[in-house]
Amino acid sequence: MINENGRIILETENVIKQYKQYDETVTAVDRVSLKVYEGEFVAIIGSSGSGKSTFLHLCAGLDRPDAGRIKIRGADITAMSPDELADFRGNYIGMVFQSHNLIPQFTAMENILVPTVMCGKKKLSYEENFKKLVSSLDLENRLHHLPSELSGGQQQRVAIARALINLPQIVFADEPTGNLDRANADEVLELLLKTKEMLTQTLIIVTHDMKIAERADRIMKMDNGRLTPLKVNY
Ligand SMILES: Nc1ncnc2c1ncn2[C@@H]1O[C@H](COP(=O)(O)OP(=O)(O)OP(=O)(O)O)[C@@H](O)[C@H]1O
Ligand SMILES: [Mg+2]
Repeated sequence: MINENGRIILETENVIKQYKQYDETVTAVDRVSLKVYEGEFVAIIGSSGSGKSTFLHLCAGLDRPDAGRIKIRGADITAMSPDELADFRGNYIGMVFQSHNLIPQFTAMENILVPTVMCGKKKLSYEENFKKLVSSLDLENRLHHLPSELSGGQQQRVAIARALINLPQIVFADEPTGNLDRANADEVLELLLKTKEMLTQTLIIVTHDMKIAERADRIMKMDNGRLTPLKVNY
């Protein structure tokens, strides 16, 4: 059961991210302060362009904020060097991108294993998890295919396997079920929740699927860069 006395795994303080284009400035993320507890499942909803992906990328250390701090497991990721951050990400953070971001020249299997290579993991440490993920995501017969030879849903499942291969403590997923039909979307959510339970993972999902958001412990809404609580389910 989640409660506010639990351990904080993610904490953002007054995070701001702006994009400047020509003479126009867009504040994509506007003074966002959020605390997420270990083992929590948070859903972020909000209209297109409200800043959800930008915020998720900042939290996952894929981009740097213009102001504010982001701490994961107490470590300030905004103060890390690029090498420290890459290492930290590989060990603790899983990310499912809105647009998959698979490497086109790599097979499904090679794409799934990218994070293990980045952190120099030994085969023994991920082999069992690899088999489990490939089986539960129904990718056994697609491992040697290139992304261009996979359906949108299969590409999405490869991206999910890649995010989970290193058994991360915190998973950020940007519309992880966006390209899937109802049955596949429900199945992918079940897999994310099963992994979450198994590893006491923290899960932060951006979604516009209210059926998925309703399963979260907490729903937050992004509106014009501002993040506000919408509903608490615990
Ligand atoms: N690299 C960039 N350069 C300039 N502006 C950007 C960039 N990335 C995002 N933006 C702008 O920042 C704002 C937030 O974009 P973001 O992608 O975070 O929205 P979103 O909530 O994820 O939308 P969607 O639901 O469509 O995925 C938008 O106004 C967008 O145009
Ligand atoms: Mg987005």
